[in-house]
Amino acid sequence: MAVDIKGRLSEYFVSIIPVDKEKIISLLEKPSNPGFGDYAIPCFEMAKEKKKRPDELAKELSSRFEGNEIIVRAEARGAYLNLFINRSYFTGEVVKEISRKGFLGLSKKGKNKTVVMDYSSPNIAKPFGIGHLRSTVIGNSLKKIFSFLGYRVIGINHIGDWGTQFGKLITAFKKWGNDDSLKHDPINYLYDLYVQFHRESEKDPSLEDVAREWFNLLEKKDSEATLIWKKFRDLSIEEFRRIYHRLGVEFEHYTGESFYSDMLDSTVEKVQASKITEVSEDALIVPLDDMPPAMLRKKDGSTLYLTRDIAAVLYRKERYNFDLALYVVGSPQMLHFRQLFKVLEKMGIKWGSQCHHIPFGQIRFEDQSMSTRKGNIIFLEEVMDKAVGLASKIIDEKSPHIDNKMDVAEAVGVGSIIFNDLRNSRIKDITFNWNEVLNFNGETGVYLQYTHARISSLLEKYSQKAGGVSYDDSLQFGEEGYDIAILLNDFEDTILKSAQDFEPSIIARYLLELASAFNTFYNAHRVITEDEGISRTRALVVLCVQKVLKTGLELLGIKVVEEM
Ligand code: ARG
Repeated sequence: MAVDIKGRLSEYFVSIIPVDKEKIISLLEKPSNPGFGDYAIPCFEMAKEKKKRPDELAKELSSRFEGNEIIVRAEARGAYLNLFINRSYFTGEVVKEISRKGFLGLSKKGKNKTVVMDYSSPNIAKPFGIGHLRSTVIGNSLKKIFSFLGYRVIGINHIGDWGTQFGKLITAFKKWGNDDSLKHDPINYLYDLYVQFHRESEKDPSLEDVAREWFNLLEKKDSEATLIWKKFRDLSIEEFRRIYHRLGVEFEHYTGESFYSDMLDSTVEKVQASKITEVSEDALIVPLDDMPPAMLRKKDGSTLYLTRDIAAVLYRKERYNFDLALYVVGSPQMLHFRQLFKVLEKMGIKWGSQCHHIPFGQIRFEDQSMSTRKGNIIFLEEVMDKAVGLASKIIDEKSPHIDNKMDVAEAVGVGSIIFNDLRNSRIKDITFNWNEVLNFNGETGVYLQYTHARISSLLEKYSQKAGGVSYDDSLQFGEEGYDIAILLNDFEDTILKSAQDFEPSIIARYLLELASAFNTFYNAHRVITEDEGISRTRALVVLCVQKVLKTGLELLGIKVVEEM
């Protein structure tokens, strides 16, 4: 925090009344009526301890009050002691710190700590849908937040590239497929083959046996099976990467489920060694007290999604020695992760408590035209293209003269989808409504990007006139920037809180509040005026807003633009 205002207020009071500093910090509150002061100390508890009446104690404290550079006045009102901050001084301190240093202090929090983040994780042969978008966007933001706090962050894309469905795909591809169609549109084509397999196997159940045999061969590293599977995988990943590139998302590793295929036997042995397994109807399971058993092997010997997740978590702990492992996966998989963590607990693994499932709700589309093809799957690229198209139309109308319009439209369109995803607590379902997503005056990414662009052009204009803006101790900030300074001063705590709750929306909401405070300020005060001192203080406040907006948007994974 730029200015530890509660710390400084409490320090002062410790000097006039014998009481614990932490106690005062915990008591400090904002008065319901801002006219009563900037902070208040309710005196009930302290009065009880000191065997006095609360209003008497409040009065006594106010009479002993002399003030210092940060508090100018203290008034007793009933049982409360109300405090008035030296607003000009406070604003100056905040602006000094942010304009000179930024938010450097935060990077120490995660020093020498490692977070492993499992996010996005689409399935090969299934389109990259809007559900995976949520995991991608939330995971990417959390990754940036933790990196900002100085953690070493390992981003893992746990692609669904293993399992019995690959036997089905190989079977279908060999029967009905061809390379050209596969190369042309790999994911949709594989999906079509998968659907075709299910249709045909209803008529001819022997196809299931063929498929099982192919997966068996794949597990035994048969060269033909491996070759075909690898082709599916490479082409699909290439396509996923195109989407990630547009979203500005990167991974340290694309270690999908197949990566663990060699570790499955030893994983199952490890679980067995802890004597918690049972054989039930020829399948190997771990009975769990308050939920369905975890199945490790089916009766045909094949492993499951859960088995591969057990292998993965053991591997990750050994390889990265993480302090935290986050799984950003939709809430329908709640039970899966409870089972996974419970198995670790039953195995006697203490570090299991470092693993967290980060669930999120669903996206529903109001626009029915988007959900027609192939059941309920929404194609992410169509959504992105539509958002960019709409953004480009708006930009054409609003500012036809700007350079690189296409880049700006891409940033604004994609940014609007990302922000729409992050602006509410992740567990809530989202209703996707096009008019809302790109509303310049709504709670949108566009609104924030536009505010940032407006500030950039304002500061540019100011710099042309005054040749840059910098802080010095002679500046008098007055009262006008105080509401903004209070928010600016909260930025670091906001980031910490969002990391603690794994909740990017805390930053998103904060940025909306800051942008709105800025717009209020900007409507009330001209920044470029005849008075050099006033202009400079205002420009400095605005510069700090810009820094915070830019940093905050970047933490959400949204690109800022200088012009729009
Ligand atoms: N591929 C899975 C799905 O789409 C998500 C994987 C999540 N990560 C994990 N370690 N299980 O449902």
